[in-house]
Formats: sequence, C-alpha cells, structure tokens
Amino acid sequence: MSISLKKFGRTGLKVSEVALGTMAFGRWIDESKSAEVLDTALDAGINFIDTADVYGKGTDLSNPQESGQSETILGNLLGSRRNRIILATKVHGRVGNEPNDQGQSRYHIIRAVENSLRRLKTDYIDLYQVHRFDRETPLEESLRALDDLVRQGKVRYIGASNYAAWQLAKAHGISAQLGLHRYESIQPEYSLIARGIEQELLPFAASEQVGVVVYSPLGRGLLTGKYEFNQAPPAGSRGAAGEARIKPLLENERNFHIVEALKPIAARKGWTLAQLALTWVVSQPQVTSAILGASKPQNITESIAKVAEKLTADELAEIDAITQGDFNVYNALRESAAAKA
Ligand SMILES: NC(=O)c1ccc[n+]([C@@H]2O[C@H](COP(=O)([O-])OP(=O)(O)OC[C@H]3O[C@@H](n4cnc5c(N)ncnc54)[C@H](OP(=O)(O)O)[C@@H]3O)[C@@H](O)[C@H]2O)c1
Repeated sequence: MSISLKKFGRTGLKVSEVALGTMAFGRWIDESKSAEVLDTALDAGINFIDTADVYGKGTDLSNPQESGQSETILGNLLGSRRNRIILATKVHGRVGNEPNDQGQSRYHIIRAVENSLRRLKTDYIDLYQVHRFDRETPLEESLRALDDLVRQGKVRYIGASNYAAWQLAKAHGISAQLGLHRYESIQPEYSLIARGIEQELLPFAASEQVGVVVYSPLGRGLLTGKYEFNQAPPAGSRGAAGEARIKPLLENERNFHIVEALKPIAARKGWTLAQLALTWVVSQPQVTSAILGASKPQNITESIAKVAEKLTADELAEIDAITQGDFNVYNALRESAAAKA
C-alpha cells in the first residue's frame, strides 16, 4: 500500500492524495479511539489532516458551546508530529450563543483563529478554510482578515469549502483586485453518489489551478454497503449514532441502485465497495486529495488498500454509465429533502 503525494493546486505544497477527516473525533469517538485512528493514518503515509472549529459536540449538535473537541483532541495527540503534517481547519459555523459567534466577519475570524490555534496547540495553521459562503459579510471584509492572518504567519494558505464556482470566481476577482492572498483550494463533497461539482466547480478549478480537496468520498459510509434503503442504520454506524446528514441519503433509492450496480465491479476486482469508492475518487485527475472519515483504524487500512492501483479508463467509463447520468435530479432531490428537514 502506498499513498502518493500531490501538488496542492498552483502552490509548491505537497499533500497526500488521501487526507484524514476528523469530524468523528469528539463527536462519535473519544480521544483514545481517535488516537488509534490518527496513528494508523500517519503510519500509512497520510500527511494531510482536516478538522473544523465546529467538529466535536458529542452527538448533541444543538449545543454550540461544546464545539472544538476535534481540534482539542488533535492538539493533545499530535505532539512532535505536528511539524510533519499539513493541518487544515475551518471557520464559519456557530461556536457559541452570542450573535457574533459564527460567520466570516473580521471580528469572528480573528477570534476563531486564536481559539483554533489554542486548541490545536500550534502557532500556525497550514490551510485555513471558510466552511461555506457567508451571504451576510462582504467578501472583501473576510478576505482582508484572512490575508492579515497569512501575513502574520498564523495561517499558511487559505481555502473555501462548499462554494459554488461563481462564488469562488468572485472571491478570486476581489483578491486579485486588492492584492490579497486568494483561496488556493476548494473543499466540496464528491463521491459516486454526489458528482454535481463536475458541471461547474471542477472546470473552474482546473482553469485557475485551484486545489480540489473533496469530502465524504464514501458517501458518509453509504458507499461501503453497510446501509439498506429506508431501513434503520446498522448498530455501531454513525447513522445509528445520530448523524442527521445520513438520513436524506438513506431515503434516496437512487443511491442504493448505485451501490447494487457497483457490487459486481468490486467483486470482479476482488475489492470491497469502500476500496472501489475511495479509489474511484482518487483516480480522478483533478482531485488533489480525498478526505476519508474513519471511526476505527480498520476503516483506514481497508479503504486505502487499493488507492495506489487507480482504475483503468474502461472501468471509469463503466462506472460513469452507472453514476453520472442524473446527478441534477439527485441534487434536486437532496435539496428538497433538506428543505423539508
Ligand atoms: N466541508 C464540509 O462541509 C465537510 C462536510 C463533511 C465532511 N467533511 C470532512 O470530510 C471528512 C470525511 O467525511 P465523512 O466522514 O463523511 O467521509 P466518508 O469517508 O464518506 O465516510 C466515512 C465513514 O464511512 C465509514 N467507513 C470508512 N471506511 C470504511 C470501511 N472500510 N468499511 C466500512 N465503513 C467505513 C465509517 O462510518 P461509521 O463511522 O458509520 O462506521 C466512516 O465514519 C470529515 O471528517 C471532515 O473532515 C467536510
């Protein structure tokens, strides 16, 4: 098993093609289990770790005061390994009950980065990402605050998550006009059940040499085959532990048709579905890194076992025929399910 390094967008930075996502730390798994997951990831050659100031909170997502546990656990566990890894975190989500405890105002960004640095027990963040587009704060205000952090040495690179292509284009335009550091990466969702970014965001990222760091490559676990259509999530899964975002995926029959259609391809190769799903993402030339989530060390060792092999053009075409056609319909279904929730 070997994990390659890839160039991070147009920058000189190198990151592993699989990153470790730590949303589970302090939310679904405690510090000692998180330590096993982290050790396994670093031993396997992963050098890129993604967290966020809002990750943690146990399973009670309604209590913003308890966010930050994922960063705290990472700060406790990394020790001298901190300087060997590329550490990414995020700002935007609500982290307290006061009106300014969220968003991308200059006020909140500066407070949030200080809190993240303290929890992570480090004096710099390699990649500081805005978690989503902030419709209430002028982009110029956020970009100037982020640029200050880079100039102060607290942050090395900035990136954006959950942005549409037009939002990234607008932000890049403002950065260029004002001579500010620009977003060097995007972090969208991308997997065999979520291919919407292929329409606008990936072409834009290619044209501007933006790093593409994608989340939920296993469809939050659905693409491992562990869930059944409209059935209660299996014991021990995140779905059973209360992850709200799995629910609309489980109610969408299309996802299960995809899983069924992928099974013969995985079987033919002697791979598990998790291996096929992750290797498919890593085989996309435009993907810089796929952020894998794990609640146990075996999730990492199993999922990454085939990433070095990549998929052939014929296999990619076979999978396209199964998954590509109707992603607009799929996105519309997800949006209407989210609106009802
Ligand atoms: N920017 C954003 O808005 C955003 C949103 C979501 C995630 N993220 C980032 O992306 C990371 C990954 O997201 P994700 O956890 O949803 O990704 P994922 O890789 O699609 O799902 C990970 C889950 O799949 C299951 N799994 C993994 N390997 C497995 C295996 N070999 N066999 C069986 N099950 C396996 C585990 O589920 P169980 O724990 O249920 O067993 C694990 O928690 C997060 O940690 C976070 O850093 C960012």
